[in-house]
Amino acid sequence: MRRVEASAPGKVILFGEHFVVRGYRALATAIGLRARVIVEESRGGSIRFISPNLKLEESISLNLENPIHREFEVYTAILRSLKSRGYTIIPHNVIIDSDIPLSAGLGSSASTSVAYTLAYTTLHDSPLREDELLEVSLEGEKIAHGKPSGIDVNIAVSGGTIVYKRGEKPIRIADVNIPRGYSLLIIDSGIKRSTRDAVEYVLRLSGDYWSIMEYIYRAADAIIDDAIEALRAGDMRRLSTLMNINHGLLSSIGVSRLELDMIVNSLRESGALGAKLTGAGWGGCVIAIIEDNIIDSITSRLLKYKVYRTLINASGARVDYSTL
Ligand code: PMV
Repeated sequence: MRRVEASAPGKVILFGEHFVVRGYRALATAIGLRARVIVEESRGGSIRFISPNLKLEESISLNLENPIHREFEVYTAILRSLKSRGYTIIPHNVIIDSDIPLSAGLGSSASTSVAYTLAYTTLHDSPLREDELLEVSLEGEKIAHGKPSGIDVNIAVSGGTIVYKRGEKPIRIADVNIPRGYSLLIIDSGIKRSTRDAVEYVLRLSGDYWSIMEYIYRAADAIIDDAIEALRAGDMRRLSTLMNINHGLLSSIGVSRLELDMIVNSLRESGALGAKLTGAGWGGCVIAIIEDNIIDSITSRLLKYKVYRTLINASGARVDYSTL
């Protein structure tokens, strides 16, 4: 049986989440956690979705009716988009396997959308150009997110570190890394939340109070220039202070919550240079920059949570294996 395995990275938004939805800039980086999707031809006459992590399986017909499990709707949206571009829908199995926690702000839905689109079109012997891969994957992301800014899909396709502004081509920031002696930690609060709800809340609040909010949005945008400089210079102290400021701005627009503030404050009190929520907020993850010599003492205070120590600037979507 013909088979293709593709993967795409998760991401963290270092700066600018939410503000990016109204056309201001955000800075995001691909991380070492990846989503992998295997697409294999089958004789079953249907499309079978298998997610061992979620312990879910379901088959749908080639007419692409909506699956019962909402988790699989992104894939039918992608197939519909491919069909409208002239792709035939062939019977196949889709096996989804991901290191990226769900609904945690690390771009899991975008990464699986991108990995699936790449795997299916490769199996089809007509892989998409990068801009088309973006457009089609975004159709899947709309199912998960409502009005996505597109930042997750962009980073899942390109990897690396990007400055993203809605409607503009992302600017790739080359040669950035966390210098030796420092680490980026991701702490998952375990609280699941809906990006769509948080985005709608912030859009409403910012619309109602725009004469005030505009300053907050502009402050968030101004952070981006400083952050790029700090990243390029490897100045982790400056970068961390900017993270602390950005967390304050996110609190002011109402997307933090007690548990996230407790994690942020506990990290700072135990020596983290900086910490902020990342992604939509109301739950999901906190990121922190810490010096490696205090990693053990910090993680011992966070036993309740899943903590990831991961690289940044990871590589983008790719075909990892194929029988073609
Ligand atoms: O938490 P996530 O990974 O779903 O990221 C959401 C980022 C927002 O800026 C809040 C929304 C968006 O589409 O950019």
